[in-house]
Amino acid sequence: MAKTAFPKPGNFLYPVPAVMVSCQDTEGNSNIFTVAWTGTICSDPPMVYISVRPSRASYELIKSSMEFVINLPDESMVRALDYCGVRSLREHDKWEEMHLTKEKSSKVSVPSIAEAPISIECRVKQIIPLGTHDMFLAEVVAVQVNEKYLDQKGAFHMEKVGLVAYSHGEYYALGKLLGSFGYSIRKKPVHSVHKAKKKSVGKKAPQSKAKNLAR
Ligand SMILES: Cc1cc2nc3c(=O)[nH]c(=O)nc-3n(C[C@H](O)[C@H](O)[C@H](O)COP(=O)(O)O)c2cc1C
Repeated sequence: MAKTAFPKPGNFLYPVPAVMVSCQDTEGNSNIFTVAWTGTICSDPPMVYISVRPSRASYELIKSSMEFVINLPDESMVRALDYCGVRSLREHDKWEEMHLTKEKSSKVSVPSIAEAPISIECRVKQIIPLGTHDMFLAEVVAVQVNEKYLDQKGAFHMEKVGLVAYSHGEYYALGKLLGSFGYSIRKKPVHSVHKAKKKSVGKKAPQSKAKNLAR
């Protein structure tokens, strides 16, 4: 089917995460606001960004402490996720109104959200004005995860968390698993290996498992 040009070029890169960013100024005033313009930008050192309009109350808090925490909500937190994105600290105590608990972070002074299954503690390295938004480039200095998703070997089961995606104004639960990193080149299961072996004698076997999830 033919594509047609959308009337105005804009932000069509979806789905994205929608996260709850906790922040605090040097006086100890803290807040939570919702951010969808966020992402990973470097593996080592681990770095992320959030893009924030200077008009947000949170903007001043982050600029003051140069720290923030990205809290990933699970499905049960979607109402709070939305609320923190449509109400301002200027009139609301979102911690109290959404019954969210401040939890001491390990490496930054900003509190994390106790109810969030994953909290990513960040220290701002650079602020880049872009237009409507300023981009805060930050180094990840610690990650706190809910222990209940860790197995006995210490592996974290992200698939069990119930993460949320944001797409074109709507929140979604993640859908069915379609594959895993590197599955397109992974060795076939044992029953089909015998057939494949006959065909590929002498050829170099593909990597059986992707070593790194991050690139
Ligand atoms: C789903 C969603 C995503 C949002 N993404 C951003 C964003 O990426 N950057 C931003 O500056 N504001 C974003 N907002 C808007 C702020 O969260 C909102 O203006 C909030 O009320 C600011 O709170 P504050 O004034 O207490 O800082 C988003 C809101 C929603 C609902």
